[in-house]
Amino acid sequence: MIALCDGVEIGYDDVGTGMPVAFIHGFPHNRALWAPQVSALVDRARCIAPDLRGFGESSTHGPFSMDQFADDVAMLLRSLGIDRAVVAGLSMGGYVAFALWRRHRSLVRALVLADTKAGADSEEGRAKRLALIEVARTRGSGAVADGQITGMIGKSTREKRPALIDDVHRMLASAPVDGIVGALEAMMNRMDSTPTLATIDVPTLVVVGAEDVLTPVGESEFLHQAIRGSRLEVIEHAGHVSNLERPAAFNHVLSEFLAALDYA
Ligand code: MLT
Repeated sequence: MIALCDGVEIGYDDVGTGMPVAFIHGFPHNRALWAPQVSALVDRARCIAPDLRGFGESSTHGPFSMDQFADDVAMLLRSLGIDRAVVAGLSMGGYVAFALWRRHRSLVRALVLADTKAGADSEEGRAKRLALIEVARTRGSGAVADGQITGMIGKSTREKRPALIDDVHRMLASAPVDGIVGALEAMMNRMDSTPTLATIDVPTLVVVGAEDVLTPVGESEFLHQAIRGSRLEVIEHAGHVSNLERPAAFNHVLSEFLAALDYA
């Protein structure tokens, strides 16, 4: 489906009934990232999975920033009549979740922070983003996907489920160059969310693949320590896209967390 949010087309899925859960994808993904969770939860939750602007079926119009991505998601949820949702973000989706918490706190029923981190980019990190922008502009999305794919997927999955490499590569390679460039600039310029962590007072689940090399387990341990009352789950034999690599294990911890919210 497509919604018009402030003149920008936002592609999204809205399936199932029950507690609203907004699933926010990472970089350079699209809403298909969350397919295993949406299909597993459809009987218990209303699953809203948007394509962030620049990706999937959404328009590639700027401006691009974490705040803008968060405002787009908030506008989409409100346009669907949702005034409170569990917000689940993976990696860049987690950066968007922090922005949502800062800007639209009343919308956030609970947080799921998957394979993400709080800190801003280092100088070295920004230089890598600039180099990737150059790759995207000169060689296209396929070359970006080629460079990203190995870090995206854990060692065990690469060995045991090579077909997933092709699926994820296809998703990365389908990202529009304008979206890739816009999101890279947005990530380079994002603020440090570390001071935000102490303000989070909704139930929070932190999940990470044990083999995540992009946002290693230590980043999630830091989130867990800094967010009062949060729960940390490490998914063994999974890398950065832990939800795709071990969907049953991921869905198990997500379902338990959502079930506990019913009584919270
Ligand atoms: C992602 O998966 O969204 C990226 O790894 C985030 C990043 O590059 O910081």
